[in-house]
Amino acid sequence: MGKSTMCGLRFLLVLCILTQGSNLHLASAQLFPALVCIGDSLADVGVNNNVESVVRANFLPYGRDFINGNQRGPTGRFSNGKILPDFLAENFGLPFPLPYNNPAATGAAIVQGINTASAGSGWLDGTNILLGVIPASQQVQWVKKWQQSLVTQVGASRATTIVQESPYVINIGDNDILAYFQSAELQKQYTEEQYRKLVIDSAVSNIKDLYSGGARKFVVLSVSARGCTPGQITRYQPTKRNQCVGKIQTFVQTYNTEYKAATQSLQSTLPGSKLFIADIFSITADLFLNPSKYGFREDTSRACCGTGTFETGPFCSSLSIGTCQNATNYLFFDAEHYTMKALGIIVGTFVEDLKSSLLTQSP
Ligand SMILES: *[C@@H]1O[C@H](CO)[C@@H](O)[C@H](O)[C@H]1NC(C)=O
Repeated sequence: MGKSTMCGLRFLLVLCILTQGSNLHLASAQLFPALVCIGDSLADVGVNNNVESVVRANFLPYGRDFINGNQRGPTGRFSNGKILPDFLAENFGLPFPLPYNNPAATGAAIVQGINTASAGSGWLDGTNILLGVIPASQQVQWVKKWQQSLVTQVGASRATTIVQESPYVINIGDNDILAYFQSAELQKQYTEEQYRKLVIDSAVSNIKDLYSGGARKFVVLSVSARGCTPGQITRYQPTKRNQCVGKIQTFVQTYNTEYKAATQSLQSTLPGSKLFIADIFSITADLFLNPSKYGFREDTSRACCGTGTFETGPFCSSLSIGTCQNATNYLFFDAEHYTMKALGIIVGTFVEDLKSSLLTQSP
């Protein structure tokens, strides 16, 4: 990365601390005009609250450690507190983007970004569609509507700057893979290789569509170590709780390699675009396999909520028996979703590289 960028960053930080003056809290400098996020439950901040879907988390114990200004408690985030896009927003010096379909998401409230992530969704329109989730293709259309609404809000010129300079965080794909393993129909219809190609082709066409709307800075998260969640372990190997589900891990690793190659190759054909790939596979596997390194309890295959073996979404509620008192030392909050502490660690592994990469001047 260029020296000038580094100076620019330091300079901004100094400015920020100076202007914050008396109420000295260490907010980051604002690095981008806005933050846009498309994704699934790892990034859903409440989109599913406002659609006909049971894949929701807008009730306790979800959100019990969530604080954002005056807002406290459950919001729809699948964790005890902040989730991935929240940590990114903090690092970028931006407010947490509102869910796109939230009634409050209009006017000035969306100039600094929007989040269309819908729990349960995937790249493929068919993934969990019976659960009423919003697939990636529709999320992309929402993002384009947001881009258009900016013009009304701030004028064409400023809107173009916001659209082009802001990162588009893309955190989706886990559900497509889980859907394949759960469906004899899909397995009959496609070989593993064919199915990965189907998903990745959809990813490429959706990212192209975002680019056609003006997006230039893409942050693509790989699929996580999905074979190492309490829920998948319960489903596929309930008696081997300290191991990740091999067939899922293997599939995900190959998928991630192909996904990375396809998005990099796409990026090279899109003039003026930047791509940062956040590969969270290794860190999420390591958190599961070596929890003590990070201050987590040893039995990582037990989540905080309920019995910690299968509860997620509607099955993780205030009625769940056995929910832990304090999620601090847990890797997972429910059977498929990390605790706030774990998500902070995950974001911490790539956020500095992400910032340098996206802030470097184009050659
Ligand atoms: C959870 O435990 C941590 C570490 O012991 C402590 O700092 C925190 O205040 C506790 N949180 C709650 C909600 O009790």
